Amino acid sequence: MSLLKIGIVGVGGIAVSRHIPALLQLADEVEIIGVYDVNIARAKEVSSQFRITHVFHTMEELFQQADAVVICTPNKFHAEIAIAALEAGCHVLSEKPMAMTSKECMEMITAAKKAQKHLSVAYHYRFMKEAQAAKKIMMAKEIGKPMVVRVQALRRRKVPGWGVFTNKELQGGGSLIDYGCHLLDLSLWLIGNPKATEVTGTTYNALSKTPDQVNEWGQFSHENFEVDDHVTAYLRFENGATMLVEVSWSANIEQDQETVSISGDEGGLNVFPLKVNYAKHGMLFTSKADWIPPVSDPGFEQAKNFVNVCLNREEPIVKWEEALQVSEIIESIYKSNDERKGIQL
Ligand SMILES: NC(=O)c1ccc[n+]([C@@H]2O[C@H](COP(=O)([O-])OP(=O)(O)OC[C@H]3O[C@@H](n4cnc5c(N)ncnc54)[C@H](O)[C@@H]3O)[C@@H](O)[C@H]2O)c1
Repeated sequence: MSLLKIGIVGVGGIAVSRHIPALLQLADEVEIIGVYDVNIARAKEVSSQFRITHVFHTMEELFQQADAVVICTPNKFHAEIAIAALEAGCHVLSEKPMAMTSKECMEMITAAKKAQKHLSVAYHYRFMKEAQAAKKIMMAKEIGKPMVVRVQALRRRKVPGWGVFTNKELQGGGSLIDYGCHLLDLSLWLIGNPKATEVTGTTYNALSKTPDQVNEWGQFSHENFEVDDHVTAYLRFENGATMLVEVSWSANIEQDQETVSISGDEGGLNVFPLKVNYAKHGMLFTSKADWIPPVSDPGFEQAKNFVNVCLNREEPIVKWEEALQVSEIIESIYKSNDERKGIQL
């Protein structure tokens, strides 16, 4: 069987730490045919580091030779590169978020439908062992109907001090679009992606604006810090469920906290660590998993799913309409903050 030819566009941090190593582990089925980056020196460095033979000088050349493309550029370029790749006949895995706006996401979906190619988004939290186990519990309806969801993606003083993460023009936002998107995506997926009907949010750009920052993840310019560093939101869904969302890169809290907690009408579920809460025989129980089937590496599982999707062996774990919903909600939280009112969807 011939190998699936994959090209990588944008070879910065996430390409070298996650996508390229994962795809190299799938060498029986995949060939990384080459890389493209606007920074040619960087592309050459990465190709020699991973012994990838080709450095493309244009994206179009890469698209002509590839069956599939992984996009790892800043958020601003996800849509235009994905659409060009799809139109050239390639399947696409885009880094998260799907794009900067819901309009761009919809244009990507239209291009994928027209080209009859696969399009997925790298929401790798879904591939964590706790997430996979939680999905099984939710699918089995063990907690009944999900009603109230608490989502926290909180880091204490960890603004990324590298790349373009604090640049609004290139990223579209800060802690919410960059980090919160993972936990939001995971929570929505676990409750079955019901339609959101109303979103209210407040974003802050304050904690990272003060001089003499204490920051664990490197240095950044507080003067040029353009994006949200703390966000709260309240979401209503068509099926009656509600979601409380709290995200930060730089919260003044004791320790980092990732929470997905779902209260259902028959029980409750916490994902990190995995626990189920329920009432039975007049008593209250909390059961925790003593062993969860291990996942070697969520990045590897994500790459494997994408390759299997391209080879028509599996359905994508992250469907495009679900990634679109995450972007719609993020956009609405930003809009709600700007307009100081709830946004009806
Ligand atoms: N899934 C995750 O947990 C995770 C983690 C980090 C980053 N990301 C996402 O990955 C993407 C890249 O982040 P990163 O940390 O690797 O950033 P980075 O700055 O380290 O790398 C980005 C690379 O893209 C290149 N580039 C910029 N514009 C380009 C263009 N138009 N065409 C081709 N190449 C271009 C840059 O030269 C750079 O080498 C972002 O969308 C980010 O949100 C995801």
